[in-house]
Amino acid sequence: MSAVKLAEGLYSVGILNPGLRVFDIVMSTEYGTTYNSFLLKGKEKTVLIECSHLSFFDRYVENIREVCDPSAIDIMILNHTEPDHTGAVARLLELNPNMEIYCSQAASIYIRNITNRADLKLHVVKDGETLDIGGRTLEFRMAPFLHWPDSMFTWLREDQVLFSCDFLGAHYCEPYTWDYNITKPEAYEAAFKGYYDAIFGPFPTYVQKGLDKIADLDIKMVCNSHGPVLTKGCRLEYTKEMYAQWSAPRKNAVPVIPVFYCSAYGNTRRLAERICAGIKKAVPSAETATYDIIKHPMTELAALLNSCDGFAIGSPTLNRDAVPPVWILLSHVDAINSAKRPALIFGSYGWSGEAAANIKARLEGLKMSVFEEPFRVTFVPTEEDYQKAEELGQRFAASFAG
Ligand code: FEO
Repeated sequence: MSAVKLAEGLYSVGILNPGLRVFDIVMSTEYGTTYNSFLLKGKEKTVLIECSHLSFFDRYVENIREVCDPSAIDIMILNHTEPDHTGAVARLLELNPNMEIYCSQAASIYIRNITNRADLKLHVVKDGETLDIGGRTLEFRMAPFLHWPDSMFTWLREDQVLFSCDFLGAHYCEPYTWDYNITKPEAYEAAFKGYYDAIFGPFPTYVQKGLDKIADLDIKMVCNSHGPVLTKGCRLEYTKEMYAQWSAPRKNAVPVIPVFYCSAYGNTRRLAERICAGIKKAVPSAETATYDIIKHPMTELAALLNSCDGFAIGSPTLNRDAVPPVWILLSHVDAINSAKRPALIFGSYGWSGEAAANIKARLEGLKMSVFEEPFRVTFVPTEEDYQKAEELGQRFAASFAG
């Protein structure tokens, strides 16, 4: 993509990456992404807002040169320092070491370690601080945890443009810049929702605060850092509304208590079934069922794991550990919002039975509320073991949902 003029003196100079299929190791990006960056000219100063991914540096500099020489940039504003937006900062500074970097306090620490340069000209901005670049005023609004501690918004008052970095974006790539030019709206919709779930889903209260932070602004254009520019009357209002809905506090109508397990010979499965029966006996209104982890899509199980009121998880012991599907499921725990979530651990084992203790250590590390001691049975459970499993399920459910 070449530089695109968005308004008088405002240009998009970012990068398209249509071939990206995985972002940040774990996030599927079926429709690619963009690394948006913007050049803004005032009468006195020229400002770059967001930088770019290091992999595309040469193309990125070409885009900048279509508007101005990099040496003409006075200030670089970094609303967030994840390396998809800052990977190219160090090399850009080689072309122009005089650029002053405007960013939050947290970002000022991160960007030092990202660039490994001791000569950064850093200006830490305060919430509400303004910058006059000559006929144009930029206002900085702190927006922490959207989605890093360093995040902030930049508001261009005269032009009514919000630079929101990741907030309100989407991993979606088309070469047409604007929301009203999207050629595959259904694909964009899927990318927009998937992006929200992965990046902002863990931070609903901060999303609400972020929306409050811009509620007084009559925004004409959102220049985010991924996907199309959003415009008033097209997708801008809808995007904000969806963020408001998705981040609204919600409570399950009835207690949701899934029982996850893996089982090689049916012993841990049968324990799961009796624990589930005990849960139902103690709290008849509870929505509870057993889930063989290898027989369900992991994304569905992960969503259930992160939205339930409490859960049980069982594993046999293999190679002195819980089995890999159990760890994969637990790797999806939303570490921000899972503290104090009740969890019950169980499993049948043959020789040594380390699975339960290893799961317990993991869940306690996530600050979950592990119920009693893990329930372990050697090889095939007896009728007495099944009875104990059911009673355990009853006590577990009664402890937080009764
Ligand atoms: Fe697009 Fe959090 O970086």
